[in-house]
Amino acid sequence: MDVDAVNCMNYEQFLDVFGNIIEKCPIITAAVWSRRPFASFSEVEDKVYDFIESLPISGKEGILRCHPDLAGRELTSGTLTMESQQEQRQAGLTSLTTRERERLTLLNTQYKEKFGFPFVICAKRSDKDKIMEELNSRLQNDPSVEILKGIDEVKKICHLRLQDILRKGTPLPTKL
Ligand code: GUN
Repeated sequence: MDVDAVNCMNYEQFLDVFGNIIEKCPIITAAVWSRRPFASFSEVEDKVYDFIESLPISGKEGILRCHPDLAGRELTSGTLTMESQQEQRQAGLTSLTTRERERLTLLNTQYKEKFGFPFVICAKRSDKDKIMEELNSRLQNDPSVEILKGIDEVKKICHLRLQDILRKGTPLPTKL
């Protein structure tokens, strides 16, 4: 997909393709659509990050809160977004032993009790052992550090989701 195809998209088409580049935050995609035309595909990504950086701490925490727990209830019930489902599967979280699932659930709970938002990590660039190690270690951080760490991971997730869209391409929008 080239940037001309992106610039030709109407709002609904843009939302259809890019609506979940930040997990369950289509408002970010909606805001970025107003910043078109884009000079390149990577400018779409830059505008997403500009928007996130412009948010107050409460907004950044809000983005983190939109993320489901890793290996949480939504994974079991099949209600994850398609992207999150694929990322969690790739990290091996769909094939945990009972003991591993219980450990991850306990760490997720401790993390949310301490910080008030879920633990976010770019699952696709990790695996179940690294996730548990990182969760254990990040539990020791101060909340101000953890918000920044979590947002950094959100950007990594967004980058890979955009790469996926770029690789798969999308049909050229038909003008109505
Ligand atoms: N890493 C990649 N996808 C996700 C997600 O949906 N939730 C969390 N917590 N981390 C992720």
